[in-house]
Amino acid sequence: MKKNNQKEDIDSRKSDEKVTFKKINEIFIRFSSALRTAQIFEANNITFLKQVHIVFTLMQNILEDEKEAVFEFKEDTLFFNNTRVKFAFLSYHYFKFLSNEFRIKEVGSISFSPDLAEQELREFIYLFANEKVNEKNPFEDFELKIERKGISHVLLEKIHPFELAALMKQEEVKKSAKKVFFKSVTHLKESFEREKQKKRIRLKTTRRLVQSIVNLVSKDESFMIGLTNIKDYDEYTLNHSTNVCVLAICFGKRLGLEKKELLDLGVSAFFHDIGKLEIPKKILDKKGKLSKKERKIMEKHTYQGVQKLIILKEFSFLPIKTLYVTLEHHLWANLSGYPRYWKKDHIDLFSKIVKMCDFFDSVTTKRPYRKHTLTRDEAVSLMLEKSGTEFDPSLLKVFANMIGVYPIGSLVVLNTKELAIVTEAKSEVAFLLRPKVKLITDRIGNKIDGEIVDLIEMDPETMEYKRTIAKSLNPNKYNIRISDYFLAQAQ
Ligand SMILES: [Fe+2]
Ligand SMILES: [Fe+2]
Repeated sequence: MKKNNQKEDIDSRKSDEKVTFKKINEIFIRFSSALRTAQIFEANNITFLKQVHIVFTLMQNILEDEKEAVFEFKEDTLFFNNTRVKFAFLSYHYFKFLSNEFRIKEVGSISFSPDLAEQELREFIYLFANEKVNEKNPFEDFELKIERKGISHVLLEKIHPFELAALMKQEEVKKSAKKVFFKSVTHLKESFEREKQKKRIRLKTTRRLVQSIVNLVSKDESFMIGLTNIKDYDEYTLNHSTNVCVLAICFGKRLGLEKKELLDLGVSAFFHDIGKLEIPKKILDKKGKLSKKERKIMEKHTYQGVQKLIILKEFSFLPIKTLYVTLEHHLWANLSGYPRYWKKDHIDLFSKIVKMCDFFDSVTTKRPYRKHTLTRDEAVSLMLEKSGTEFDPSLLKVFANMIGVYPIGSLVVLNTKELAIVTEAKSEVAFLLRPKVKLITDRIGNKIDGEIVDLIEMDPETMEYKRTIAKSLNPNKYNIRISDYFLAQAQ
C-alpha cells in the first residue's frame, strides 16, 4: 500500500514537472517571439499586438498562481521564476536571441508584478526590442527610458558584476590571442636567427608563449583556430609553424591531453620545421616540382632539425617529444613517407598530431610550387581520402570534427546570396551545418562590414531558417583575405 502511495507521489510530481516545463517553455518562446516581432514591425502592427496579447494572458495566469514572473540570466543560463529554462532543439535560437538582448542592455533580470497592464507590457516589449542604448551605461540608460514611459510594473536588475566581467573578458581574450599569436611568430623568427648565429634560443620565452596559447585555446578555441587563417606568404615557415602549434594544441585538447602534455605538444609543433633553416631558399620556394635530388635535400629537414635541437644550449629544457615530432612529422600512418624507419613500427602520438596539422596548414596556404590552394573543407576531404594510409583513421575523425563541416574561416555563400565567413563552429552534431557567420556582402554583392549571425536563427513568422549555407567558395578566387576579418574582431 505504502509502495503504491509512493508511486503515485512520484507520478504526480513527474506530471507537475511536465506542466511546469511546458508552461515555462511556452512563456519563454512567446516572450522571445514577441520581442522578435517588435523588431520587425511597427508598434501598432496587428501581428505584434496579437503576440503581446498571448504573452499577457500567459503572464496573467502565472502571476495569479505565483505572484511573480521573473526572467533571469545567470552563467549563460536562463531561469524563469527560479526554474531553469530547458529548451528543445527548435527553441535554442530563441535562447540565443534573448540572451543577446539581455547582454546588450546589461540586464540581469526582468520581473513583472501582478498589476501589470497589457498596454504596459506592450510598451515594455517594444522598447526592450528596439531602443538603442548608450554604450557607456546601457542599463542605467534603458532603466531611465522605461521610467519616462511610466512603466511601473516591470522591474529591472542589472547584470551581476561577475557576469559582466566574464563578458568583458571575451573581448580581452580576443585581444590577447592576437597579441600572443604575433609575438609567437616574432619569437620564432628571432629564435631562428639566434640559432643561425649559434646563440642561445630563449626556450623559457617559447614555453611561456605556448603556455599562453594553451590557456587561450581553453578560453576561445574558435577564435584561435580563426587566427590560423593568417597566411603570410613571405615568412611561410614562421607563420606555418605558429599555425601548426595552435592547431596541434586545439587537437590535443580534444584528444583529452593534460595541460602539461599540451605545452610539450605545442613546443614540439613550434619547432617541427627548424631543420628547414638548412634548406636553400631556392629549393624551399621553387616554382613547380622538385627534382629527385632537390627532394632528397628537402627531406633532410627532419634529420637536420633533430641535429639542430640536440646541440641547442638549452636542450635540457626541451621536451624530448620535440625530437620525435621533428623527425617523424612527414611519416605516414602506414610507415611510408619520410624518413623511412627500418626497425621501428610505432609513430609517436605527438608526431601523428603534428603531421595532420602540418598537412592541413600547408595545403591551405598559397605557395609558389602549389597550383591550387585548397579551401579548408577541401583539405579535410583530401585528408579523409588518405585515411588509413597517410593518416591514422581514428585520430583523423577527431581532427575532421574539430575543423568541422564548414571550418572556421571558410568563405560561404548563403541561400540569401549574401557572402559570409564562418566564425564559430557548433559542437552539437545537430547544428554542424549551422555555424555562426559574419556577413561580408549584402544580397546584391556590395561589400559590407556586416553583423555576425547565427545560422540557427529562424523567422518567427514562417518558422523557417533565415539563412542557410548554399556552398563554400575559394576565398583566393574572390580576392578575400580571411585573416583580416579575424584580426578586425580583436581591434
Ligand atoms: Fe616539415
Ligand atoms: Fe611543416
